[in-house]
Amino acid sequence: MQEDWNPSWLHQRFVRPFTANPYPTTGEGLRMIWRFLKGGSQDNPAGLRFLPRQTQLNDITPAMTLGFAGDAMSMWGKPLRFDRSVVDFFAPCDHVLVNFEGVITDLPQYAPDQKHTRPVLDALAQMAPRDKLVLSMANNHTADYGAAECRRCMQLLDREGFTHFGVGDTPFIDLAPRLRVTTGTQWSNRKGSHLAWLDKVERHVRPGAFNVLFPHFGYELELFPRPSVVDLATSWLAHFDAVVGHHSHNPQPITAQVDRTGIRRLCAYSLGNLSFGMAYRHVPGLSALTWGAVARITVGPLKSQPDRWAAGELTWSFIECLPLPDRRAGFETRTVAQCAFFPPTLIPPSH
Ligand SMILES: [Fe+2]
Repeated sequence: MQEDWNPSWLHQRFVRPFTANPYPTTGEGLRMIWRFLKGGSQDNPAGLRFLPRQTQLNDITPAMTLGFAGDAMSMWGKPLRFDRSVVDFFAPCDHVLVNFEGVITDLPQYAPDQKHTRPVLDALAQMAPRDKLVLSMANNHTADYGAAECRRCMQLLDREGFTHFGVGDTPFIDLAPRLRVTTGTQWSNRKGSHLAWLDKVERHVRPGAFNVLFPHFGYELELFPRPSVVDLATSWLAHFDAVVGHHSHNPQPITAQVDRTGIRRLCAYSLGNLSFGMAYRHVPGLSALTWGAVARITVGPLKSQPDRWAAGELTWSFIECLPLPDRRAGFETRTVAQCAFFPPTLIPPSH
């Protein structure tokens, strides 16, 4: 069972929640709680803006389309469905990457542990066909229920026909001969020797392929990344063709950086939440957790340099996960035109 598992109800209910901190210092954990209570931090130290919702990053011959979603959080036993707008968004994609935050387990759940139940798989498979979904297991909740429960969850995913990666012995996945996706987590709420970390993550780059990094990193409830987070993403972009992150629980700017050969590399700091069974707009501490973003890019050979693959067209949208009017129906995620956090002026129009 898990490394710090104590079966007593008192321990589970009153001790365990206070031993969860993704960050190395207590101070950082307390600052995170403060951001939850005040509904997120608006600081934008790097002065970042979003790319237009439709942006031609490079002139390529498209070979495939990759879709990205952020955190699939625990539904706390409630149903989840996806509006047609989200299904349509991912319809052109050959693969759709999702951060699967936590594990499927029958053990009891006490916040902030993230537990999934089997029905979430049918919900995700309603968003995109299961043979197109790729679940990343690398996040700060992978170790919540220990290595054995994580392994049981992955065996269930195998039986249900889901592709997954992102623990210590599967830090990357080759989705095509010229397409590798690498993942890893910067943080973990619990100790775990089975996790995929981001240290020296560039060692997983596959020469000659289009390399995507799908990292779980940064800080929760910050609308814009700190300078240290920007620096980290920039250092990864010296090795990876695209960085698409998650963990903040709110969307952060979707940007691009130009490399020394003039190629634009996608840098999406965080896609926020895809789904969450406690996404209540009017509850203090939870009100900032309804928002996310979805993105897709075409990838393929550059027209000017056919032996080199790059990202072509970027398309993205904000999404919001909210309870349905009939509470028994659970939650629904849909695309939305705006996110209340960001003024429209921060997002230039598409041309
Ligand atoms: Fe996380």
